[in-house]
Amino acid sequence: MPDTFLTESRLQELRQQLNYHNYRYYVLDDPNIPDAEYDRLYAQLQQLEQQHPHLISPDSPTQRVGEAPLSAFDQVAHEVPMLSLDNAFDDEELEDFNRRLQDRLKSTDDIEFACEPKLDGIAISLLYREGLLVRGATRGDGTTGEDISLNVRTIPSIPLRLLGEGFPPLLEVRGEIYMPKKGFDELNDKARSAGEKTFVNPRNAAAGSLRQLDPKITASRPLEMCAYSVGWSEGGDLPERHTDVLEALHGWGFLINPEMKAVANIQGCIDYYRALAQKREQLAYDIDGIVFKVNHRGLQERLGFVSRAPRWAIAYKFPAQEEMTLLKDVEFQVGRTGAITPVARLEPVFVGGVTVSNATLHNRDEIDRLGVKVKDTVIVRRAGDVIPQVVSVVKAKRPTDATEIVFPDHCPVCESPVETLPGEVVARCSGGLICGAQRKEAIKHFVSRKALDIDGLGDKLVEQLVDEGLIDSVADLYKLEAETVAGLERMGAKSADNLIAALEASKQTSLDRFLYALGIREVGEATARGLSRHFGSLPALMDASEEQLQKVDDVGPVVAHFVAEFFQQPHNLEAVQALQDAGVYWPDVEVEAREEPLEGKTYVVTGSFSTIKRNDAKKMLQDLGAKVAGSVSAKTHCVVVGGGATNNSKYVKAQELGIDTMTEEQLVEMLGEYGVLEV
Ligand code: IVH
Repeated sequence: MPDTFLTESRLQELRQQLNYHNYRYYVLDDPNIPDAEYDRLYAQLQQLEQQHPHLISPDSPTQRVGEAPLSAFDQVAHEVPMLSLDNAFDDEELEDFNRRLQDRLKSTDDIEFACEPKLDGIAISLLYREGLLVRGATRGDGTTGEDISLNVRTIPSIPLRLLGEGFPPLLEVRGEIYMPKKGFDELNDKARSAGEKTFVNPRNAAAGSLRQLDPKITASRPLEMCAYSVGWSEGGDLPERHTDVLEALHGWGFLINPEMKAVANIQGCIDYYRALAQKREQLAYDIDGIVFKVNHRGLQERLGFVSRAPRWAIAYKFPAQEEMTLLKDVEFQVGRTGAITPVARLEPVFVGGVTVSNATLHNRDEIDRLGVKVKDTVIVRRAGDVIPQVVSVVKAKRPTDATEIVFPDHCPVCESPVETLPGEVVARCSGGLICGAQRKEAIKHFVSRKALDIDGLGDKLVEQLVDEGLIDSVADLYKLEAETVAGLERMGAKSADNLIAALEASKQTSLDRFLYALGIREVGEATARGLSRHFGSLPALMDASEEQLQKVDDVGPVVAHFVAEFFQQPHNLEAVQALQDAGVYWPDVEVEAREEPLEGKTYVVTGSFSTIKRNDAKKMLQDLGAKVAGSVSAKTHCVVVGGGATNNSKYVKAQELGIDTMTEEQLVEMLGEYGVLEV
């Protein structure tokens, strides 16, 4: 029968693909398709097998728990298998899950659930005997994992000895090891400046860090571990509710997720999902969904397990942030500072909640690193508001007619030569303001909201003005007349008048806005503000040496060089003069005598703040001369803990090291005394 034949070959194909991707993911730790694509293939296989149960074969990925572990570490047999979770992708599937539970329990009563973010890291099992950490093991294939005790011991959030009392004499704690986003970015920045390979995402970085045979390397990586369950225990009693078990673990020294919460029923789960989806980007770590667990352990026991997952839990996944699509072409865009950015034109794809048809390829090095060609199938990532990026290439799908990406040696806009300065990765058009693209971008920047904030002058209008030859420079803007503007496409007399009025109003500005508007390389708003406060006037700033410039907060040698260089170039001085001649002006800023009572002191600021923003608190401490560090060490003088969280890991560390701590209220009071904050 041709139908059965087709089904059989499709099943075989799916199994083969899934087994291959499973191997890449679990054994090589080098996946080359996005998780969402894997999930789809898996769901297809599951569905086909459900329709044709007699065709299920023992080698199907649905028929086994996982994959063989790496061979470099000793093997560990898990006393209780480490299972995975079933997935839901929409509210309906979640409600189905609730219904299945009620059916099994033969009750229509609301079920209480524990809600926890699904951390995107590596599952870990930690075994404690009499409170002492005796073993740390990976999940492996669920039955057999790898002994990575030496590596887990290096992770500061893992207690080597349990705190407090009341823990069972034998306790196996399970959780996730992950790399917070900030640590990931710093690690990659370091790798990049050392010319080393970067990690694709925090999950891969965490996996790579744990797989090190040398624990010193693991120790140098910013890993965290968050406990989410007890796998096995003997002796002692654990609380009846899962959320209380987690609280108990917390008391024994584990980090638990602060977002964890019990809700009364499935609607509570849906509300929780919505709320956390909103918060996802602000979280300090990557999550790929929410895990909902029946909260009462008695009910969990009654519900039991199916082959690879518990019946009493489900992972409600967020829309995927990575998807696969075709790279149709590469174009080269010229930015305000002449930087040439290769932009991938993609077959439109729905990722991270929007349809994406362009993604940045950053620079030439990135193209080399990815080894990407035109017509390749690529993995695109879009997280939050971040510009979509090409993160890797599915080389297996490369067609024979894929072509090399040729980086231009002349600017695609003005044809000036493209240069790459020694020590830089970015290639730039050498045309400066001769280059139409740079001119347009410089003008767009000048009029933008944080710069001179000229209402009604959007990107399209700037392009039109330059293309029509009506303006060549920012100063030309102030020569525009209403009649000329009114004649432009999509403009009328009214909008032209408004624009002229907005231009007039923009003339009165402030020194920091003006400095920012000039578009000096690496001078963002904060730096512009720092420069204006420090020097007080434009002539004082223009006269400053690179050394003097470096006295300003956040100004290092690179920024100092760009600022000094900017004011050495005659065409920039002419542009500044022309703007002043056109009537742009600003009051000088009073330069306060700088007192730095906290000079030489290092502060760490942590926890959630309510009366001031945490970043403002940091800034004010810096203004008082303190150094603000990200982690607590023997060199720290004081840890400021917001929100009164005594379980905060930095607070705990400070206590261990005998370092002073301070509450938000105490900080506010101190800042008030020093006169940097009004109280
Ligand atoms: S519970 C039997 N809770 O997701 C219950 N898992 O497919 C098994 N994960 O690799 C896990 N955050 O490491 C649970 N709060 C959480 C989780 C979580 C992340 C991971 C887990 C496993 C995968 C489950």
